[in-house]
Amino acid sequence: MDIRSEYLNFFKSKGHEVVFSAPLVPEDPTLLFTNAGMVPFKSIFTGEIPRPNPPRRTSCQTCIRAGGKHNDLDNVGYTARHHTFFEMLGNFSFGDYFKKDAIAYAWEFVTEVLKLPKEKLYVTTHENDDEAYELWQNFVPKERIYKFGDKDNFWQMGDTGPCGPCSEIFYDQGEEHFNGLEDYMGGDGDRFLEIWNLVFMQYERSADGTLTPLPKPSIDTGMGLERVIAIKEGKFSNFDTSLFMPIIEEIAKICKKPYVYEKGASYRVIADHIRSSVFLLAQGINFDKEGRGYVLRRILRRALRHGYLLGLKKPFMYKLVDKVCDIMGKHYTYLNEKKDYVKEQIKLEEERFLNTIEKGIEIFNDELKNTKEVFSGEIAFKLYDTYGFPLDLTQDMLKEKNIVIDEEKFNALMQEQKNRAKNSWKGSGDISISGDFKNLIEKFSKNEFVGYEQFNQKTKILALLDENFKELSHLDQGQIGWIMLEKTPFYPTSGGQSGDSGKINQSEVLATQKFFDLNLSKVKACEKFETNQIIEAKIDLEKRMQTARHHSATHLLHHALKKILGDQVNQAGSLVEYNRLRFDFSYSKALSKKELKEIEKCVNEMIISANKTKIDFMTLEEAKKSGAIALFSEKYQNEVRVLTLGESKELCGGTHVENTAEIGSFYIIKESGVSSGIRRIEAVVSKAALEFTQGIIEELNDIKEELKNNDALSSIKKLKNELRNSKNELRNSSQIKLDSICINQTQICIQKIDDENIDIKNLIDEFKNKFEKSVILLIQSKNEKINLAAGVKNAPLKAGILVKQAAIILGGNGGGRDDFATAGGKDFAKIDQALQESKDFIEKELCK
Ligand code: SER
Repeated sequence: MDIRSEYLNFFKSKGHEVVFSAPLVPEDPTLLFTNAGMVPFKSIFTGEIPRPNPPRRTSCQTCIRAGGKHNDLDNVGYTARHHTFFEMLGNFSFGDYFKKDAIAYAWEFVTEVLKLPKEKLYVTTHENDDEAYELWQNFVPKERIYKFGDKDNFWQMGDTGPCGPCSEIFYDQGEEHFNGLEDYMGGDGDRFLEIWNLVFMQYERSADGTLTPLPKPSIDTGMGLERVIAIKEGKFSNFDTSLFMPIIEEIAKICKKPYVYEKGASYRVIADHIRSSVFLLAQGINFDKEGRGYVLRRILRRALRHGYLLGLKKPFMYKLVDKVCDIMGKHYTYLNEKKDYVKEQIKLEEERFLNTIEKGIEIFNDELKNTKEVFSGEIAFKLYDTYGFPLDLTQDMLKEKNIVIDEEKFNALMQEQKNRAKNSWKGSGDISISGDFKNLIEKFSKNEFVGYEQFNQKTKILALLDENFKELSHLDQGQIGWIMLEKTPFYPTSGGQSGDSGKINQSEVLATQKFFDLNLSKVKACEKFETNQIIEAKIDLEKRMQTARHHSATHLLHHALKKILGDQVNQAGSLVEYNRLRFDFSYSKALSKKELKEIEKCVNEMIISANKTKIDFMTLEEAKKSGAIALFSEKYQNEVRVLTLGESKELCGGTHVENTAEIGSFYIIKESGVSSGIRRIEAVVSKAALEFTQGIIEELNDIKEELKNNDALSSIKKLKNELRNSKNELRNSSQIKLDSICINQTQICIQKIDDENIDIKNLIDEFKNKFEKSVILLIQSKNEKINLAAGVKNAPLKAGILVKQAAIILGGNGGGRDDFATAGGKDFAKIDQALQESKDFIEKELCK
């Protein structure tokens, strides 16, 4: 039995629209991950946006619970039914049917479609929910209906959001198999398996904790697919089902140790965690130091440590990716498309961690020997900071030993390390926008964007809102607010492209943004605006064109990256502005100079080809078949806009050039790493490219002028050489020790220099600089001849004579100025004699 489709078809037959699972990264910024089937519908439940028609939906939603309010990570592997990744079957009523129908549908599905024996089914209700208690009695005898309090039977999505009392359906797996103390209804044991949670959504909880009744009571139900499959396959543990066993068997094969349930926690941890990792990576989340990427890292590292316990000390998780794709790829086809990339990223992360795990475990074990009840926060932090052990991994290692970590100390150290300030795993901290959008959507549903063709539009003001999105009848002169136009030429900020600016009459448009389907422009009013007023909207065409050029170039760049680096490159983020573009993509290593040049060339060639832009509308399926690139996280309508630009083909709603030639030219200005596995290219086109290149040329010309040489490169090389030589000499000369004596307040130095690399002239200068009165003579053998140099400062002697006398002894000659002179010689055997005679001569001269 294919339970996914049985469920969806059942609710389809009850008037529900079937929707595909939304991304794991929700639109709701207060949540880390989609953690329940209702998350994609939150704004409908709260009444922020109008109800769809029909006001009923059903889905099989992929969920992650590994952080934030619903965090199951610690339990995974040790129980029969906790997972970080799971699928939730759900049916949703948006102010349509309520408790009566929800209960009746659930009962019908469980007993008639799943055909679970009625006598094995138990139900719980909230202790104050008499209505549900009564309704259940239509199907279930009273003695199998239990009442519990808020802890068990009140559900809420997060600290804020829609919530309400709930009823749960339990399946009794049989007394004969379970008889632990906790195996009673409402206990912690595994005998009574909760299979379905029906939430009767009646309230919205605000940040201060107050409950406000929702405009229309609604239904949100969630049935764990893994549990139902376990019951249908006659297994007690979700891990024993066809969803997990092939993965567990593969692990057993790799570690060459058979899986035994009682001792199998590590196998189960790995099997669970590889599923989360594959889904997250396939959906574009990568390993990172913070946020969602850090949760992914924690999950994978936890699994690796369990692999380590099984004796797996080399990367192995990546070998399990195929199994996950075999099991899940039929329903989630994007897994197959991303398989190679996912494997590569997992293997890289495995290598990163395995490099340090051994040392980390050693430090952990050493500390454990000194630990009784509380494990050192300092060591836990060291393990975290230096060896990449997330805190919950260390906690997991201590789990069976009943030892806790000194978290206070750990947190204090964490705090000290300020750059971790953003590690809030609860959510990004953004505040979700609320305002009078619902009224506007109900009144107008949406407004028309005419700006692909129209840059100037006479149109009507449909609505006005203040900065907090409260509806106004008029906007006063000088006030800042949002205008909703009937037909707007302003493209809103979306898909990474920054929105249009321009003017509404004479008032400056500061920003244009889309809220749900409402395309609103922010203005600073320089006149009074009223609803229904006819105005003239005019976009800043120059900025629009510049932005379009950068956007089109982004498509060409994406294509060039795939062409040159391979198909594993996928877009991970994009920003398009009027004067620059930034493109993030998955790739495991830094790009070489040669690759960057090739990419730049490829993009410029597509520009030069002067291809006309083609825009087609088709279904998502057709678009994918045609080879168009679609992004996982984007929500697409039934009909999608496919843009062909040069060799690139992508789904996109943005504004673009009509011909690639309009882009002018393309230059990469920077390539860098964003997080592990994600690279970033920053580039400029058109006028911004011209400014960039002109800037570089100007700089180069200034350099040439400064160097007084057109060949700047060889001139710089020469300068660098000279600098290096001087530095060497300086270093060498200061290493030589000159011995001197003082006669008549004059410092005298007569010395032989053995080092051939030293410039004795420098030594003479240094010596003379040091003393008020000085006489110096140095003799050096260099390149098979003898060099002599002498210097005299404020002394009754002539350097020229001094050096000449010595040179003659050495079979040579020379001379020079009174204060400085050089000479040469060749009779090496007489050096000592020359030194001695010079010394005598100087002493005599000075003592006269
Ligand atoms: N939102 C509820 C849950 O997650 C029912 O879908 O349990």
